[in-house]
Amino acid sequence: MQGFAGKVAVVTGAGSGIGQALAIELARSGASVAISDVNAEGLAVTEERIKAIGAPVKSDRLDVTEREAFELYADAVKAHFGKVNQIYNNAGIAFTGAVEISSYKDIERVMDVDFWGVVNGTKAFLPHLIESGDGHVVNVSSLFGIFAVPGQAAYNAAKFAVRGFTESLRQEMVSGKRPVKVTTVHPGGIKTAIARNATAAEGIDPEAFARVFDKKLASTSPERAAVIILDAVRKNKARVLVGADAKALDILVRLTGSGYQRLFASVIGKIMPGIH
Ligand SMILES: NC(=O)c1ccc[n+]([C@@H]2O[C@H](COP(=O)([O-])OP(=O)(O)OC[C@H]3O[C@@H](n4cnc5c(N)ncnc54)[C@H](O)[C@@H]3O)[C@@H](O)[C@H]2O)c1
Repeated sequence: MQGFAGKVAVVTGAGSGIGQALAIELARSGASVAISDVNAEGLAVTEERIKAIGAPVKSDRLDVTEREAFELYADAVKAHFGKVNQIYNNAGIAFTGAVEISSYKDIERVMDVDFWGVVNGTKAFLPHLIESGDGHVVNVSSLFGIFAVPGQAAYNAAKFAVRGFTESLRQEMVSGKRPVKVTTVHPGGIKTAIARNATAAEGIDPEAFARVFDKKLASTSPERAAVIILDAVRKNKARVLVGADAKALDILVRLTGSGYQRLFASVIGKIMPGIH
């Protein structure tokens, strides 16, 4: 796949899953790539694979919740490559637990990584993207940023927030005539380590969630997801739904309005652990 020759792209959470696949596909498509993660082992694998492609790569440990470090990192990437064109705010975590049994700390942690991590990345890089004259912000929400399900209130809140933040930013860039495109990504179930890396409210077995996710919900490979996302970036799509499940459920929600909640409360409430 071509189309990113000469571009400098930044990918957070690039040590696993969708972020790893995005970084590799960007490198294959001609981009120079700045990759980061808190998972040093996974990041080293991504770095090796990009080097094998022959693309320029800068690899750093970065926790997306650390705002000051993110600002310094943005300047370091700019200094290293001379410019920055694209940021993929991809790093994220999953968490399962009904509101009644989730602690404030649980909910704050999910918001810190999944929402504030995206805000930090967007704000740290936006001046550089504008300066490049050809920028793109790509923020990873979820299908759970389009509808809510029981047991995912914290994750739903973070992913709905990413969607609102990103859709507003896109309009600001248009009305302010800034040279920055903006895309929100809504993956359906992607076969990654997300559920195995997930935590759960006290008393809930996170592995029960992982088993349901791996067996029943994950259907698209991360490599396929990366190709779909980069195609949408190339076409400057406002929103990209990744996977047949995402497309079908988006239609269901639009057709039923708030009615989907009655349906999901009974169906998903039965298969998701940690609800009631
Ligand atoms: N897999 C899916 O089905 C799915 C569906 C919808 C949305 N998403 C979203 O896609 C994104 C990527 O998830 P994935 O499925 O590839 O999961 P993954 O667990 O395979 O990869 C996520 C990566 O993010 C990193 N990470 C976690 N916390 C971090 C932090 N504080 N700072 C920096 N890096 C951090 C992890 O170390 C990991 O390498 C996430 O935002 C996730 O919410 C995934």
